[in-house]
Amino acid sequence: MRLSWLLSLPAVLTLTSAVAIEKRDADFLSVRTKMHKDMSGRRGDPQDKYFHESVFHPHYDGRFADHQLGYRERKQALSNLIQTYLATMSDIGVETWLMHGTLLGWWWNRKILPWDSDSDVQVSEPSIQYLASYYNMTVFHYKTPRIPEGRDYMLEINPHYANREQTDKLNVIDARWVDTESGLFIDITTARYNNTHPSGEGMLSCKDGHEYRDTYIFPLRETFFEGTPAKIPFAYKEVLEAEYRKKALTLLDFEGHHFDEDKLEWIPVNKKYIAEAKKNADVKKAEEKKASLQEGQDKKKAEEQKALGTPEKQASVLQQNQKPNSNQAESAKPDGPKVVKQPTKSDQLPPSAQQDAGAQKTKEEETRLATLKAHEEERKVKESAAREEEKRKQKNQASKR
Ligand SMILES: *[C@@H]1O[C@H](CO)[C@@H](O)[C@H](O)[C@H]1NC(C)=O
Ligand SMILES: *[C@@H]1O[C@H](CO)[C@@H](O)[C@H](O)[C@H]1NC(C)=O
Repeated sequence: MRLSWLLSLPAVLTLTSAVAIEKRDADFLSVRTKMHKDMSGRRGDPQDKYFHESVFHPHYDGRFADHQLGYRERKQALSNLIQTYLATMSDIGVETWLMHGTLLGWWWNRKILPWDSDSDVQVSEPSIQYLASYYNMTVFHYKTPRIPEGRDYMLEINPHYANREQTDKLNVIDARWVDTESGLFIDITTARYNNTHPSGEGMLSCKDGHEYRDTYIFPLRETFFEGTPAKIPFAYKEVLEAEYRKKALTLLDFEGHHFDEDKLEWIPVNKKYIAEAKKNADVKKAEEKKASLQEGQDKKKAEEQKALGTPEKQASVLQQNQKPNSNQAESAKPDGPKVVKQPTKSDQLPPSAQQDAGAQKTKEEETRLATLKAHEEERKVKESAAREEEKRKQKNQASKR
């Protein structure tokens, strides 16, 4: 387990190449880049509440955004959000694990549930103390193949984290990892040892009322989520079943989506989602058409040059044509379609495959998918065994009567 984590660490680093900017305890105004109006619901909130959700949606930070994102944009933003969060925590040595809906998404296909608009993670009490002492209001700048222009993420710690009591109902979220561009965020809650729990020692309590025996959480298991190394509770299945009931782990139709067991993807079936997904697909098609048009033109030009030039010259022409931004390619067709840049295409690849522009599936990704498939198979076998058992029981009962 340990070894595989070590091996995969460089992969995360190349994926995300983070720069921690020393802007600690910055006021949020200094990291707010484009909003001129505060859309947070602070005015309507009780005075003692620290985090304010926006007036237009509870899962957006109104200091940074004034509207909700579309289906695909949101999925992408949430994926970037969790990838950058996990990589940052790993970098600064803070142990964190997936929880709630995010853990359920992991169960199905190691991805965020497409109908979710937030993510949930937990940390231990020493971790939140450490984050509060050294990283409050730290802005991390990330450049990834999917965010070539870079993006700032901010870690904000609720000062009420020091109050351990569940009676502090206005401040059950201990910290947030905020996308300063879209306003989307990850809720970070702390699992604290509860010394007065009636069940005795080893109980963890969160301010939102969730409780766990520590052996269900620790030792954490190492895995992948959204293509990035991640950790999950030791007894993840029991934790999920306790929170969402057994059905949520097997039901293939949920929230206007159907789980495609071959593709291992939640596919929208609800009209609203389909319309949005179709819009996205049309955009994608147009992009692909553009790209292939460009490719055809490049090829034609290369052939023309080939007919003219020496072998050496040929090679250099081919090379130039492959560079999308080469001056020659631009000037050759001033009115032609704009060159489609590589990132658009690699957007559709699994994150860990994006590391090399060659878009080859990495070994890790393959292993991950293989594990996932095996896991699915196991699930199916268990389910059919359970069904058989159920039938047998019914038969027995019927024959007794
Ligand atoms: C983090 O910084 C903000 C802004 O300065 C401040 O309001 C908040 O109390 C700080 N949190 C902690 C845990 O100190
Ligand atoms: C400890 O557990 C009890 C029982 O669930 C709960 O009432 C109490 O608020 C918990 N204490 C803390 C500090 O979480």
